[in-house]
Order: sequence, then structure tokens, then C-alpha cells
Amino acid sequence: MIITVANQKGGTGKTTTAYNLAYALSHEGKRVLLVDFDPQGNLTLCFGIEQPDRLKVSMFHIMNAIMSDELLPAPDQYLHSQGNIDLTPSNIELSIIEINLRDEMGGEKTLTTLLEPMKHQYDYIIIDTNPSLGLLTINALAASDSVLIPVNPQLWSATGLTQLLNIIIKVKKRINPRITIEGILMTMCDTRTLLYKEAFRLVQDHYGESIRIFESQIPLSVKVGEANFYSQSIMEFHPKSKVALAYQGLAKELMNHGY
Ligand SMILES: Nc1ncnc2c1ncn2[C@@H]1O[C@H](COP(=O)(O)OP(=O)(O)O)[C@@H](O)[C@H]1O
Ligand SMILES: [Mg+2]
Repeated sequence: MIITVANQKGGTGKTTTAYNLAYALSHEGKRVLLVDFDPQGNLTLCFGIEQPDRLKVSMFHIMNAIMSDELLPAPDQYLHSQGNIDLTPSNIELSIIEINLRDEMGGEKTLTTLLEPMKHQYDYIIIDTNPSLGLLTINALAASDSVLIPVNPQLWSATGLTQLLNIIIKVKKRINPRITIEGILMTMCDTRTLLYKEAFRLVQDHYGESIRIFESQIPLSVKVGEANFYSQSIMEFHPKSKVALAYQGLAKELMNHGY
């Protein structure tokens, strides 16, 4: 099961969700591969790799090898592990790939070439994407079974979500017919505020009929920033917090969906 976490807006909780969802799933005994597919390398930092720019092998090298039909680096050169979770890291070099992909025949399938043979080794592969609808995000969508869309009520934009959904429809028609939308996840929710209530109502009105909106909603909490700062998941940092419980709830919702 390959899931892309996508939203072309920055700051909607993509990286936080990829990391904590992976952790929650691994807590349920699942084997998870996290793919950092954002040149900012935030997920790589979350994972505790302090200087992503010094990595000898990252997603840049892997993508490059695939595009030049070279032998891939051995997995032990690029897989970083924490318990049941593996990570393929990224750094700013990945932005070069986005440029090179423009002239690449069948370039949309580059990430698929890496992940397809790895699929059977993991219960879940979760891809964290960069805040754009460019060629890296399209590569991630092309490789995925589904998309999880985090929505931050503070940054709600109907146009933004429509653009993302249109890209997913295009990818489905042209490159990857099996892709579906896993669901919309409300993140950074302060349920007392009018803003939250209004954004949630709009999401329900616009998409409630056609797209699953996860029952688990991620509360706004300073604990998330603290946990990120210490490169810990929120389940490790504050196991009893509402945010930890919310991510565990999300993991269960995914699993109940049959994967
Ligand atoms: N539930 C939350 N409560 C408070 N802050 C959060 C929460 N989720 C994420 N953040 C913070 O918001 C910022 C953006 O989150 P991030 O996951 O990096 O978003 P994205 O990957 O979409 O850009 C980060 O500083 C992160 O620590
Ligand atoms: Mg991010």
C-alpha cells in the first residue's frame, strides 16, 4: 500500500502527518517505509538525521541512477531505520531532479521504478511531498495507491484543493489508473474557533459526499513543534496527548479500511 501525503500549500501538516502516521502504524506492528520526497528534507530532519546535506546517498542519487539507467545503490546505503520504520532521505539536491525530469522520457514513472519492487517488503509506504504540484509530486502520485490530503483550517482554500484534485484526476487518467483518494485529514484544529468550524463545514459541504473525511482530526498543539524539535514522534514525546491519540486513531482508520 503506497500512500502519498500531498497538499501544494506549505504548512498543512504533511511532514508531521507522514512521520507520526508511520510511527502510529509501526506501533500497530506494521512495517513502514517513509520516503522523503521534498528537497527541503524536513522529514529527514524529523527522523533525526541532523545534516541531510552531508548524506552520501539520498533520493537524489537513487532518482539519478534510475534516470541514467545505472545500477541502484545498495539499500543499506540509503535506508535509515528506527524500529519497524525505514526512511529514504532527501536533501536540497533533489531539486535538481525536478529540473532534469522535464526532459526525461517517461520521467513520471521514475519513483515507481524504485518503489514497485520494494512494495512487498512493507505494509505501508508513505511518501512526503513538497509544497507544489510539480514533477516531483506527480512522480509520487504516479507511484501511489492513494493520496492523503492534510487540510489546515487556518490555510483553507477551496481553489487550492480543487487544483490538487484536478491533478489527481489527470494522473489517474493518464499515468496511474489505480490511484484513489484515501481521505482528507483536518490538521492543526482548534475546535473552539470560528475559523475551524467554518473551514470544516466547507470541507464537509464540498467534499463530504465524494471523499472520505477522516473522523480523526489532529488538534493544534505546541507539543508537535516540541516533538519535532527533539526528532521524536508525538507518540514517544507525549504518548497521552490528544495529538498522539489522534494519529493513533488515524492509523486505525486506515487499517480498518482494509490494508
Ligand atoms: N497539530 C499541530 N499542532 C501544532 N503545530 C503543528 C501541528 N502539525 C504541524 N505543526 C507545525 O506546523 C509546521 C508545519 O507543519 P509541517 O508538517 O512541516 O507541514 P508541511 O509539511 O505541510 O509544510 C511545523 O512547524 C510543525 O511543527
Ligand atoms: Mg513538509
